[in-house]
Amino acid sequence: METGPNKVIDESRQGEAVVMERENSGNGKKLYLESYGCQMNFSDSEVVASIMNENGYSTTRDIEEADIVLINTCSIRDNAETRVRNRLTEFKKKKEDNPELVVGILGCMAERLKKSLLEEEKLVDLVAGPDAYRDLPNLVEEVGTGQKAVNVLLSRDETYADISPVRLDQGGITAFVTIMRGCDNMCSFCVVPFTRGRERSRDPYTIVQECKDLYNLGYREVTLLGQNVDSYRWNLTSKGEIKDEKLPTTNFAQLMEMVALVSPDLRVRFSTSHPKDMTDDVLEIMAKYENICPYIHLPVQSGNTDVLYRMNRGYSREWYLQRIEAIKKIVPDCAISTDVITGFCGETEEEHKETMSLMELVKYDFAYMFKYSERPKTLAERRFEDDIPEDIKGRRLTEIIDLQMKHSLNSNQQQIGKIQKVLIEGPSKRSEDQLCGRNGRNSVVVFDKKDLEKGQYVMVKITDCTSATLFGEVIEKCEPAPSILS
Ligand code: 5AD
Ligand code: SF4
Repeated sequence: METGPNKVIDESRQGEAVVMERENSGNGKKLYLESYGCQMNFSDSEVVASIMNENGYSTTRDIEEADIVLINTCSIRDNAETRVRNRLTEFKKKKEDNPELVVGILGCMAERLKKSLLEEEKLVDLVAGPDAYRDLPNLVEEVGTGQKAVNVLLSRDETYADISPVRLDQGGITAFVTIMRGCDNMCSFCVVPFTRGRERSRDPYTIVQECKDLYNLGYREVTLLGQNVDSYRWNLTSKGEIKDEKLPTTNFAQLMEMVALVSPDLRVRFSTSHPKDMTDDVLEIMAKYENICPYIHLPVQSGNTDVLYRMNRGYSREWYLQRIEAIKKIVPDCAISTDVITGFCGETEEEHKETMSLMELVKYDFAYMFKYSERPKTLAERRFEDDIPEDIKGRRLTEIIDLQMKHSLNSNQQQIGKIQKVLIEGPSKRSEDQLCGRNGRNSVVVFDKKDLEKGQYVMVKITDCTSATLFGEVIEKCEPAPSILS
């Protein structure tokens, strides 16, 4: 979905496009930044804007006045790449009218395709991978001297920890905070370990400071982001050994507690959890703090153990269902969402039915569902044949979408009559007289505006719903917590 220039187009989550613009007193050069893909890309674009800002570039939402166009890209499925290629072709036409215009590609496609977009296809002037953003000002300068500029080096330790991201939606209420980068998991279908490199965690003190700064700016919700947040670790090796005895260690549960303590009025969310790594101590911290939202995104991918084995996910159907039981026991009323892939290599009708039966057992509140798309270099591409015909992939996808729609509607219907705490995020899309926000379970709630403003917490009685939205009446405003300054 697209709403205009300088936008984030989310392929895998949220489905929301975000307009990014910020005034700046730079050297007059203007940057137009457009992002595709996951929340991590959105967060990265804020780091890019910060680096460019520091170097005197201002951002614009009008591509016509831009001197530099950067497009932050996603490789997760083939169709994500196709959309970006189409967009690059449009930019190429703009370059014919304005040869001075610099066009650069960032993110996963930059990493995956490296020089080919630059040399063979001549679509861009600049290519920067996810760990090369500090180098962007130099790369832009290189282009200015007539060279083609590339930096796709992946790093083992770059976390951009010291960079204070420029929040591109000024006056915002919710923000993403990256806590780790890369992924070491090697799920066989996934290109991310190749495009984003090895997993590394960010210094917890810089994370907490960023959350405090956001709170002081008026933000009331942070989402801690990582490809696998459960393997967040600071000063610990992957085997759990302490790296430096003189320094404290931090795991994900501890990090979440540190962030929850910033203010009771700062909501904490996180994404993405991995079923093989999600521990009970994370669930116990969730249960302990009212401001940690009772919502977990726990991608299952398939409900069949053999398919999960081929996917190299590191858990079985039974293990996954035990994790779901643990969530339901430790965090009662926790909303659960998932990701599912249909038509993975060799998936039989029986195996597909097991995904449906798992969905029946769990009754997810929400799901992101995809047809398998073979990605170059992945384990699946090398080991298995992409042998499920498109029409069967599509039919299976339709079946799981239909099932999920039923479950989402049921889940929302069960909320009717309940009174829930909602953080107001802004006007509702349908009417100027209504506002919308989300409850802790991550459902969108719409209600009358009255004298209410974004950033406030209100108690809302749910009166009606569709499969995607709750409707309600505000019962009372919540008292704000005292502010914090450092
Ligand atoms: N094909 C289809 N879906 C994929 N995902 C990741 N790689 C692929 C692929 N090759 C999905 C997974 C993941 C989500 C972010 O995208 O479900 O959890
Ligand atoms: Fe990809 Fe698996 Fe890592 Fe997620 S956990 S980014 S699906 S390799």
